[in-house]
This record gives sequence, C-alpha cells and structure tokens, in this order.
Amino acid sequence: MQATEIRLASRPDGFPTMADFAVVDTEVPAPAEGQILVRNLVMSVDPAMRGRMRDTKSYAPPFAVGEVMSGGAVGEVVESTVDAFKPGDHVLHQLGWRTHAVVDAKHAVKVDANAAPLTTYLGVLGMPGLTAYSGLLETAEFKEGDTVFVSGAAGAVGSVVGQLAKLKGAKRVIGSAGSAEKVRHLVEDLGFDAAFNYKDGPVAEQLRAAAPEGIDVYFDNVGGEHLEAAIDSINLHGRMAICGMISQYNATEPTPAPRNLVQIIAKRFTMRGVLVLDHFGLQKQFVAEVAPLVASGQLKYEETIVEGIRNAPEAFLGLLNGANTGKMLVRIT
Ligand SMILES: NC(=O)c1ccc[n+]([C@@H]2O[C@H](COP(=O)([O-])OP(=O)(O)OC[C@H]3O[C@@H](n4cnc5c(N)ncnc54)[C@H](OP(=O)(O)O)[C@@H]3O)[C@@H](O)[C@H]2O)c1
Repeated sequence: MQATEIRLASRPDGFPTMADFAVVDTEVPAPAEGQILVRNLVMSVDPAMRGRMRDTKSYAPPFAVGEVMSGGAVGEVVESTVDAFKPGDHVLHQLGWRTHAVVDAKHAVKVDANAAPLTTYLGVLGMPGLTAYSGLLETAEFKEGDTVFVSGAAGAVGSVVGQLAKLKGAKRVIGSAGSAEKVRHLVEDLGFDAAFNYKDGPVAEQLRAAAPEGIDVYFDNVGGEHLEAAIDSINLHGRMAICGMISQYNATEPTPAPRNLVQIIAKRFTMRGVLVLDHFGLQKQFVAEVAPLVASGQLKYEETIVEGIRNAPEAFLGLLNGANTGKMLVRIT
C-alpha cells in the first residue's frame, strides 16, 4: 500500500499558487501504542489554512515548510492499538491532507455514517456549522425580529447563518456572494429575503437597497468593503460578529481599517470576534438542534466536492477564489 500526502513547499506571497504545495508519495505509517491508523475518506479545505501558511503567531501554529499540512478529515480505522476504536469505525480528526493518518486515539472522535452523511461532519454538522451557530446566537446575540446581513453567504458558514436566522424568526435576512448563480441560490433555494453580488457595484449601495430600514446584526466573513458597508447600514445598538475577513487573507500590504468606524459612537453598536474554538461547549446543543433541521430538509446544505488527494491544492485555491457553493471538500477515496 502506498500513501500520498500534501506538504507545504513554500510560504505564499499574496495569492497562493500550485508551486506552494508538494504532492508526495510515501509509505503508509504504522500506529504506535495509543494510536490508530486511519484511511482518510474525505478532508476539508478551510480559509483559515491560508493563515497557517504564513509564519505569524495566531491561535493555531503555522504549517512548517516541507511538512505535511493538516486539517479536518473523516476516515475509516484500518488498524487500532486501543479498545475504544475498531477497524471499520469512522472517525473525525485533524490529520487531513494525506491518504493515511496515524492519529492519537485521544484526538479522534467516532462519527456515525448512518446518522448523517460522513461529509456533513466537516460541514453543516461540523466546525463551520458550529461557527455559524455560536457566532449568530452567542456572539451576535441574535433575537427574533432582527434584520441580519451575512457576507460570504453562499459558503459553508454563511449559508448556515442565514438559514438559522430565518428559522429563528429574523425579520429579514440579506446575503452577499460573488456570482449571479450564488445570489439566485441564496434567495430561491435557501430562502434569504434578499441577496446581491458584491462584484456588481459598491457594497454599501447594494446593502442599503436590500435593507432600507438598516440591519441589526452583521455576520462578517469578508471584512474590508463589506465591513464598512455594514457599519453604514447598522442600526442603533446593532451587533456584529466578526468571524472572518477573507478579502484580506492574501493581502501583501496592511489593509485599511474601516474608514467609518467613528459611527460606533453615535450608533453604540458592538463588534465582537468569534472563534469557534471557544464554543466547543455548545457542540452537543448545536447537533441536537441542527441535525434534525438538516435531516428534515428545513436547513439545506450544499457541498462542492473535488475528487482525489492530488487535487487538494486546487480545491484550496478554488475555495479562496469562490469556486465552491457550500462546503468545499476533497474526496480521498
Ligand atoms: N472565526 C472562526 O472560528 C471561523 C471558523 C470557520 C470559518 N471562519 C471564517 O469564516 C469565513 C467563511 O469560511 P467558510 O469555511 O464558510 O468558507 P466559504 O465561505 O465556504 O468559502 C470561502 C468563500 O469566500 C468568498 N471569498 C473569497 N474571496 C473573497 C473576497 N475577496 N471578497 C468576498 N468574498 C470572498 C468566496 O465566495 P464568493 O464567490 O462569494 O466570493 C468563497 O467561496 C472565512 O472568512 C473563514 O476564515 C472563521
């Protein structure tokens, strides 16, 4: 048996390229005591991985140049040295970007392929879903009757934010995304009240037209011009959950602060960062509430699946370019 893994070949300067990754064929590793050998079936690519390609201090350590990258993956146990896992079990763990992973048993979580499709443990029922749930309900303190604006709305996190807000009684939900097809999807498939393509014109103007009475909650996945537009449109005592700023992840120069931040005084709105790592305590509550909504089709999800470990770098670049609708995943076997 041969294994394949993707290593970080170099640190990107600006938008990453294929040359920043190396696809390497190698031996299948053997598990030591307390470990399991997992054949990965599907792995996640996430915007946060762009941050880990940079050599800067953050909440997660940078990837080392020359070493295999990592991230969420679901696989099948093929060999186990511990009683808690048996060959054939499906597990969620953090050693993606490779076909075979030796995982410390304490870092693997069993998942049930009969309860939900395995892919959903990396998307709507996994980290991105929990980010949406905790960011909307705890960080932004969403309440019934709020008008909610979410950027990156057709992506893994944004699509859950908008639908949850609707299901929980939002007055109006507005989303922005980067293509006409995504805008159609938000309104026609996911039930957003309004959506616009941020590439069609100034975001502030498009948002004002979509939310003439202003917004009470802004869920930020994008930053930059979107954040400025949200500051312009936010109502008195509005709340912002700052979840991501993907428009700035490939910047080579310092990015401008929101130029209209002075409005925070008159409007007394709040801005709070959300980091999903702080909210794992909500995981049980999240799954108990959201899994039935997904199973019944009340909360819909999309996945964009790229085939083959060798195409994982392409999937990651595609994610940064908006090639995905819903969760971007790589099917390994
Ligand atoms: N704080 C946390 O704990 C946490 C956890 C998970 C994710 N996040 C953040 O949440 C955001 C969404 O993550 P996700 O996993 O759900 O990814 P995603 O939204 O599924 O995929 C990323 C999307 O970003 C959009 N995008 C790329 N460049 C853009 C730009 N310059 N301006 C506007 N949109 C751009 C693209 O869609 P378009 O076609 O619409 O451009 C792309 O599909 C990211 O910012 C991520 O870093 C934060």
